[in-house]
Amino acid sequence: MKITIIVATDQHNGIGANNQLMWYLPADLKFFKQTTTGHTIIMGRKTYDSIGKPLPNRQNMVVSRQKNLKIAGVQVFNAMADALTACKNEEEVFIIGGAEMYKLALPFANKIYLTKVNGIFNADVYFPEIVAQVWKETSQIFYPKDDKNAFDFTLITLDRI
Ligand SMILES: NC(=O)c1ccc[n+]([C@@H]2O[C@H](COP(=O)([O-])OP(=O)(O)OC[C@H]3O[C@@H](n4cnc5c(N)ncnc54)[C@H](OP(=O)(O)O)[C@@H]3O)[C@@H](O)[C@H]2O)c1
Repeated sequence: MKITIIVATDQHNGIGANNQLMWYLPADLKFFKQTTTGHTIIMGRKTYDSIGKPLPNRQNMVVSRQKNLKIAGVQVFNAMADALTACKNEEEVFIIGGAEMYKLALPFANKIYLTKVNGIFNADVYFPEIVAQVWKETSQIFYPKDDKNAFDFTLITLDRI
């Protein structure tokens, strides 16, 4: 099973503030939807609360320490390892955030889809450091800002060396 992180950060690795995203970039959301549809997505409970509903056409898994948490349309696990075990026969699963989940998953993830947003925001949660010796960039696509997307961004693919 391939474990893929998918994340968008600003220039300082900020990923969110007040339990929300800090930008609205429909072109990046389109990439997220295309990439994750049909697959399992694993997220922390706070990210789930931020989204507010299961994302359609994907198996939604939420990680929480709460013992009796039940969410309609979502499988809840008390550890990320348990969520990963539950989908061990799948080809690829996606860790979709937030900061606590990224920190847990980064040491064993195989791939990162990193959207680097061209801006600096007032973040209160950050993506962990991507150590250059561990990851190699295998693709980079620049998306210039336009009337629908207020910031330039670069979609970077990183594979574990
Ligand atoms: N830019 C992006 O790509 C992106 C993507 C996703 C999210 N975000 C942003 O990230 C922020 C949320 O991230 P976050 O780090 O605050 O929260 P998070 O990772 O989404 O969720 C944290 C929660 O996960 C559970 N958890 C954490 N470690 C655990 C462990 N070892 N075992 C079991 N459960 C565990 C706990 O849930 P309980 O409290 O229920 O026990 C904890 O409160 C928001 O601002 C969101 O918008 C950004």
